[in-house]
Amino acid sequence: MRDNRSVILDQVDVPIVLAPMAGGPSTPELTAAVAEAGGFAQLAAGYLSAADTAARIAATRAATGKPFGVNLFVPGPPTPAADLADYLAELGADHTLGDPRYDTDDWDAKLALLVADPVAAVSFTFGCPSAAEIGRLHAAGSEIWVTVTSVDEARVAVEAGADVLIAQGAEAGGHRATFVDRPADDTADPLGLLALLQLLTAATDRPLVATGGLATGAGIAAALAAGAVAAQLGTVFLRCPEAGTNQVHRAALTADTPTMLTRAFTGRRARGLRNRFLLRHSATAPVGYPEIHYATAPLRAAARAAGNPDEVNLWAGQTHTLTPELPAGELVAQLAADTKAALEKALSRRIQHY
Ligand SMILES: Cc1cc2nc3c(=O)[nH]c(=O)nc-3n(C[C@H](O)[C@H](O)[C@H](O)COP(=O)(O)O)c2cc1C
Repeated sequence: MRDNRSVILDQVDVPIVLAPMAGGPSTPELTAAVAEAGGFAQLAAGYLSAADTAARIAATRAATGKPFGVNLFVPGPPTPAADLADYLAELGADHTLGDPRYDTDDWDAKLALLVADPVAAVSFTFGCPSAAEIGRLHAAGSEIWVTVTSVDEARVAVEAGADVLIAQGAEAGGHRATFVDRPADDTADPLGLLALLQLLTAATDRPLVATGGLATGAGIAAALAAGAVAAQLGTVFLRCPEAGTNQVHRAALTADTPTMLTRAFTGRRARGLRNRFLLRHSATAPVGYPEIHYATAPLRAAARAAGNPDEVNLWAGQTHTLTPELPAGELVAQLAADTKAALEKALSRRIQHY
């Protein structure tokens, strides 16, 4: 970063960022296709070992010479077994469960990998790395992007040395990026993207990347007008042929099913399409990531294999019905053209009326 600018985002052709999507959808092919189309693309490293992350970085480099980013999950503390017992008993009555183990998602080894073999940007969700960790990645030459859902989290990220803030609105598909997942916060409305962008613009000079519920040029234009320098899109890429999205998930995205925030599948709040498992277990699911994620892994895998959408985590943002089935490069080109048209249209309307 230079003078509150992102060197990366100053250089991309279109203000579109591919969201990292761990758990299948993110592939080197998808990352390379979006990068080749002129956007900035991220590769998910969540749930992967450092060795698998290195292999995916190599595959992405083989497919594109463009810069790209790698995304990591910041580990939280283990959950006391007593907090999980009732929920595991509830699930265990009907399902074979996996070992509810704790791990750090190979955090130290992945950081070491990215320090030794840097990429253009390292982005984070579920927390903020320490100033020392950010310092090591900076020294290696990477920009640091931290996902935030509130002004308080943004302050922590700026203080630690983040170059770019990814502003994640409540509309977003997949896990909320909150630094700490607190049930006490469930009664407060999570901030929507436009509210968050305005609050962050007033609170910080750091470049903002807007994410959550953006699926059209008009949506991207709105985020840019509200102060973002680029828009990060996830769900809209899930049906691209280059994405590794499983068939059950792909098929479910086209239905007009409402989404909901839930801890039922992973023990961390995430937005997914409503299905039987989510509706049955959301009220009782505790905070317990990654233990609940590991406990439910076998039942989710079995449902995926059986083509049963009722026991799969169908992560999706609020605009999932707008997800097209298009090659990623074509989708980026179309979104970029629609964004420009939407900005021009808004401006011409304004001139007519005022
Ligand atoms: C299937 C899926 C997986 C995701 N995985 C990650 C991830 O690994 N890391 C991350 O920072 N965000 C992840 N997200 C959240 C995205 O970064 C982004 O905030 C979200 O997709 C934006 O909302 P949208 O889906 O409506 O575009 C994921 C989202 C989805 C839909």
